[in-house]
Amino acid sequence: MCGIVGYIGKKNSLPILIDGLKRLEYRGYDSAGVSIINDNNEIVSFKRAGKVLDLDNSIDKDKFEGTIGIGHTRWATHGVPNDINAHPHCDMEYLFTLVHNGIIENYKHIKEKLKEENYIFHTDTDTEVLANLINYHFKKTNDFEKAVRLALVEVEGTYGIACLCVKEPDKIIVARKGSPLMLGIGNEETIVSSDASAIINHTKNVIYLNDGEMAVLGRNGFHLKTVEDEDIFRDVEVLDFLLDEIEKGGYDHFMLKEICEQPDTIQNTYRGRINFDTGVAKLGGLENIADKLFNAKRIIITACGTAWHAALVGEYMIEHYCRIPTEVEYASEFRYRRPILNSDDVVILISQSGETADTLAALREAKKAGATTLGIVNVIGSTIAREVEAGTYIHAGPEIGVASTKAFTCQIMSLALITLMIAAEKGTISKRKLIDLAGDIKALPEKIKHMVNRKEEYKKVAEAFVDCRNFLYLGRGFNFPVALEGALKLKEISYIHAEGYPAAEMKHGPIALIDNDMPVVFIAPLDRTYDKIISNIEEVKARRGRIIAIANDDDKNITDYADHVLRVPHTKALLAGIINVIPLQFLAYYIAAARGLDVDKPRNLAKSVTVE
Ligand code: F6R
Repeated sequence: MCGIVGYIGKKNSLPILIDGLKRLEYRGYDSAGVSIINDNNEIVSFKRAGKVLDLDNSIDKDKFEGTIGIGHTRWATHGVPNDINAHPHCDMEYLFTLVHNGIIENYKHIKEKLKEENYIFHTDTDTEVLANLINYHFKKTNDFEKAVRLALVEVEGTYGIACLCVKEPDKIIVARKGSPLMLGIGNEETIVSSDASAIINHTKNVIYLNDGEMAVLGRNGFHLKTVEDEDIFRDVEVLDFLLDEIEKGGYDHFMLKEICEQPDTIQNTYRGRINFDTGVAKLGGLENIADKLFNAKRIIITACGTAWHAALVGEYMIEHYCRIPTEVEYASEFRYRRPILNSDDVVILISQSGETADTLAALREAKKAGATTLGIVNVIGSTIAREVEAGTYIHAGPEIGVASTKAFTCQIMSLALITLMIAAEKGTISKRKLIDLAGDIKALPEKIKHMVNRKEEYKKVAEAFVDCRNFLYLGRGFNFPVALEGALKLKEISYIHAEGYPAAEMKHGPIALIDNDMPVVFIAPLDRTYDKIISNIEEVKARRGRIIAIANDDDKNITDYADHVLRVPHTKALLAGIINVIPLQFLAYYIAAARGLDVDKPRNLAKSVTVE
C-alpha cells in the first residue's frame, strides 16, 4: 500500500528512483512523485496523478539531477488521487520534503494546533501535516534529526517515511511504525524502500527497520536509532531471491506469469518438508510450538481476502484429518470483537505480504491473550513473519500481480503440510492414507503443469464471457472456498460482479438471479458430492443459466449438463483447492485481458493493505 524509495550515494538518483517506483507500483498507483537534492542543494520535486510511466514521461530529466532523492507511488487514503495530493509533500516553508506510507490518525488535531501557530496547508493529506509538524519542531531545535524524532513521538497511527531537509542536504531520514521499510546497503550508497523489489537490483544486503525505529542516511553510511533516541545495532541480512523473479520474463502480465509458475512454487512449498515414504511432514519453523499445536483445544485461522479463502480450506482440512475444532475469522473482525482466546488455542495467521494491517493487529491481539501464534507468510522478513512465535514460509517467490494467485495455492499447500504433520502425530489418519496423500502432493507439480499447458483451452472459454456483467461461482466442501476465490479473482481484475456460494445455498436466494444472462461456474470434480452438484447444475439449467463446469478429465457425463467445461486432473479432496482454482485464475485473467484492462494494477486495489 503505497511504495517508498530513496537513494543516497554517488549515482544520479532519478533513474534509480523511477526504476524503483516502477517495481513498487503494484503497491499503489493512484499518483507518483519524486524529490531530488540538486547540485545547488535545492530540493526539486515533481509529482502527478496517474501511473509511474506518466511521471517518467513528463518529468524534465535535466532539471532533476542529483545524488540524493526520494520517491513515492500512492494508494490514496486521505484526499483524492490528484496532482496536489500526490507525494512528496512539503511544509509551508519548503524546508522539508516528505514521502509517507500509512495514516496519521491524529492529523486533524495536530493540524488545528499548527493552524493556531499560523501554519498554512495546501492539501487534504495527513502527510502535509507531518511535514509541518517537523518544521514546528525544527524551529525549536534547529536540528533535522531531532525535529523528525519529536514529530514522530507526537503522531498516532502508522508511518513509513523518508524525509529530506534543505538545511541539511546531505541526509535522508527514514522511520517506520506499522508500515514496512528496509535499507539496502550498497557500495558507497544506501537505497531505502518499502519492499525488497526496489532494492534487489542494487544490493542483496538489507537491514529491516522495526516499528519505532529510524535511520539517518548520510553520504558515509547510516546510523540506526529508536524514535526515543536510543542507538541500535542490527545485523545485515541477505535477500534470497533473484532479479528475474520480479520481472515479467516474456509474459504479458505478472499475473499470467505467476499463474504459470505454480508447478514450481507448489514444489518449493513442500520441498524438503515431507517424507514421501511415510507421508510424515516436518516443518522446521514450527518445532518450538509443535507440542502446543498437537495438543491445541482449538485452532483459529485468521487472514484477509484471498488468504482468508485459503484459511477456509485449512479449516476443512484440519477438522477433517486432525479432528481439532477449527474456526476461521476475518482478521478485521477478529481484532475488534473481543474474541475469547485461551492459552491452549493456536492462532494461525496467513498473509502473503506479511504486512496486512488487520492481520498484524489480529496477531498482536492473539499474543496479548496468551494464545500460541503461527504464521504462514510469503515475504521473508516481513513484520508478521518476525512477530509470530513460529511460522512457515510458503516460498512462492515475489508475487507482483495485485491479484493473488500463486500465494493462494502455496498457502493451501502449507496448510496441507501442517494438517499431515498434526494428523500423523495425533494418529487421526492411517499410515496408508498418509502415504497416499503424500503421493498426491508429489504428483501435484506435473498435474499443474498439465493445466498450464492447456491454458489456450481455458482462454477460449473465457473469451465467450468477456461481455458478461455478473457471474455466480458454486462449489461444495473443499471447493466452496475455491468458488469464493474464483469469484474474487474475477471481480478484482475484470470489474465484473461475481459471487461465490456453497452450491446448496443457491436455492436459498441466488437462484432468483438466474436467467440466460447469468453464467454459473460449478466446481464439479468427481468426488463424493458430485451427484449433488449435478442436481444443482440441473436446477440452473432449468432456468436457462449458462453453465461452465470445472470437471475431471475422465468425466464424460458432464458435457450433458454444462455448456462449457474446463478440464482438470483428479486429486484428493485435501488438494482439490490447489487444482481446481487454477482454471478459475486463468478464466479471470483471460476475461480481464480480453477486456483490455490493466490486469496487474486493477483500479482501487493495492497489493498489501497496510492501513485498516
Ligand atoms: C486478492 C488479494 C487480497 C489479499 C489480501 C491479504 O487477490 O490479493 O485479497 O489476499 O489483501 O493480503 P496478504 O495475504 O498480503 O495479507
